Amino acid sequence: MEKIIIFDTTLRDGEQSPGASFTIKEKLDIAKQLVKLGVDVIEVGFPFSSKGEFEAVKAIAEKISDRVICGLARAKKEDIDCTWQAIKNASHPRIHTFISTSRVQIKHQLNKTYPEVLKITKEMVALAKNYTEDIEFSPMDATRSEIDFLYEIIYAAIEQGATTVNIPDTVGYAIPEEFGKLIRNIVKNVSNINKAIISVHCHNDLGLSTANSLAAVLNGARQIECTINGIGERAGNAALEEVVMSINTRKDIFKLETNINTPQIYKTSRMISHYAGMMVQPNKSIVGENAFAHESGIHQDGFLKERTTYEIMTPESVGISQSKLVLGKLSGRHAFNQKVKKLGFDLSPEELEVTFQKFKDLADKKSDIFDQDIEAIIEDELTTIPETYKLDYIHVVSGNKTIPTATVKIKKKDKVIQEAACGNGPVDASLKAIDKATKIECSLMDYNIRAITTCKDALGEVNIRIKYKDKIYSGRATSTDIVESSVKAYINAINRLIYKEEHLNEADHN
Ligand code: KIV
Ligand code: ZN
Repeated sequence: MEKIIIFDTTLRDGEQSPGASFTIKEKLDIAKQLVKLGVDVIEVGFPFSSKGEFEAVKAIAEKISDRVICGLARAKKEDIDCTWQAIKNASHPRIHTFISTSRVQIKHQLNKTYPEVLKITKEMVALAKNYTEDIEFSPMDATRSEIDFLYEIIYAAIEQGATTVNIPDTVGYAIPEEFGKLIRNIVKNVSNINKAIISVHCHNDLGLSTANSLAAVLNGARQIECTINGIGERAGNAALEEVVMSINTRKDIFKLETNINTPQIYKTSRMISHYAGMMVQPNKSIVGENAFAHESGIHQDGFLKERTTYEIMTPESVGISQSKLVLGKLSGRHAFNQKVKKLGFDLSPEELEVTFQKFKDLADKKSDIFDQDIEAIIEDELTTIPETYKLDYIHVVSGNKTIPTATVKIKKKDKVIQEAACGNGPVDASLKAIDKATKIECSLMDYNIRAITTCKDALGEVNIRIKYKDKIYSGRATSTDIVESSVKAYINAINRLIYKEEHLNEADHN
């Protein structure tokens, strides 16, 4: 069967989600997991955007050897030169260069004319081609571009050596029938189109990114650009898990396949949710908590008689195991290590030791330990943000007839800082006390809490987003005590903010 190329842009467009900023170590972990998942192309970043981004792209290009490693560059000499420097050591480097082609963007953003945009495209694709054979060109805002200009610019890019032409629905404006027709017309009207792969890059502003990507495939596109959990600029990008499982589940329609190792989908989704600090909504297709839950009596009855009555794919096919009681207070190191391996984690002896101790502490507080509890312990341990601040002690007084008060002690290297504050609840009081201790003025944008498993004594996972100088940073933590997990998540977000402020000297790229 013919293959669809899966181009993952979680590390580039995905990182453009507000609050989703990864460290170099996190980017590397994600890239390694994307290799296990089986993606064909990894767009690792936009090297010209900052020094930190350049370093991250370079590190990944040097470490990941058997996939196409793609770096994004505006159609500008300085961007393309910089991108090449970042990816040149990859075994399969690709330069992806783009320029706006819609009238509105050309006029108001670029302040240029059509002939100027065409000339820049030719020159910049040719420049990139001097560096490497594998060149991708994107006419940005293609779906709002004038069709004849779009054909002309695609033709010119291929003439100069583009091997992939990507058609972005940058603002998520297209609807499936229209987008499928656009691809069909490109196939028909661009005379050299057979020298390039047609790719699509759909945003989800109208909730149509997966449908549009699939319509494009039915009309000749052979590469889909997507992100894990659909994260990305604004409403996000087409979700990898959705396009892949659609192609797999409806082979009768698509008659195509991908290289994706689908049982790795759930683990990858968890990793991205954790590192990006973005919880997956329960009803999210494929990877949401409810994606395989049958609630109504009629559905349950049918499912128990024959699972295909209400299930079009199995949870196992995407790597979701049923929530199993796995370990308890008396479980030993061997059973724990076996479980960690079975869950697909590859921990060092030191990490195993620390996580085992945390498991024991948890087993003292909570009688039944499930797979999700072990995953949460490991995810907490694998946090890669340097702990500038660390929680040492927290004491809260709260009740319906008391003014909630919190006392916190936090450590900054050897220094211990103690502060107290009142608030309208125990979490509010605790976060105010942390603000006094760190003297960092940030505002809380978002606060989410969820129980990791279904028991009353479950671990509570808190995801927080804070705003500091117009930038958003995320934090996450788990504990059986929700005030403790709230405070730890808040400190985790502050530590991420400090790390990012220190490491990313943003260059002006917008
Ligand atoms: O959405 C978009 O147009 C992009 C391009 C850079 C491909 O992300
Ligand atoms: Zn995009």
